[in-house]
Amino acid sequence: MRNVSLEGIFVHPITQKSLKRSGTAHAIAAAEYAYMFAKRYDVNPDHATKAALLHDIGHYTWYRDGAWDYELYKESDIHAIKGASRAHKLLVRIGEDRHVAKEIAVAILLHTDSYLPNGELELKPLQKVVALADEADEEINGNHHYKTIEDHVALERIRALDTRIDSGEKSAHEIV
Ligand SMILES: [Fe+2]
Ligand SMILES: [Fe+2]
Repeated sequence: MRNVSLEGIFVHPITQKSLKRSGTAHAIAAAEYAYMFAKRYDVNPDHATKAALLHDIGHYTWYRDGAWDYELYKESDIHAIKGASRAHKLLVRIGEDRHVAKEIAVAILLHTDSYLPNGELELKPLQKVVALADEADEEINGNHHYKTIEDHVALERIRALDTRIDSGEKSAHEIV
């Protein structure tokens, strides 16, 4: 049984505040992709969707003359580092298992390789799934951060993912 649902994470004020900056639509699309890739790579869909939902919560807005400056962002960004820490704090606070919170935080830390030496890191399956899910929704010049979604649609899609994860858990339990 899960201690924490996606909805519990999504509606939390810290998540809402952060996703308003980095893009709620992108976070939800990434969580949906993560569910799909989790099945493909035999990764726990609960962990994968949580990490994907939160993967960009460390973003800061890099504005110049009222618009997001993508070049400035690429030079100075540490959003994955901030996001990993922020997600970990949030997850532990709302009752997530500490081992799970750590796995999710590390997957968030490694979802982008912008500051890592090339080719020296082999991602674990959960980390790979989160990176793939992010990539699947990526658009040129960071446009995926600007996609919009209505609040009620966002919540419906999060609830639909929770239902799929819960029913998957149940059927796995029934087999055992
Ligand atoms: Fe990111
Ligand atoms: Fe992203």
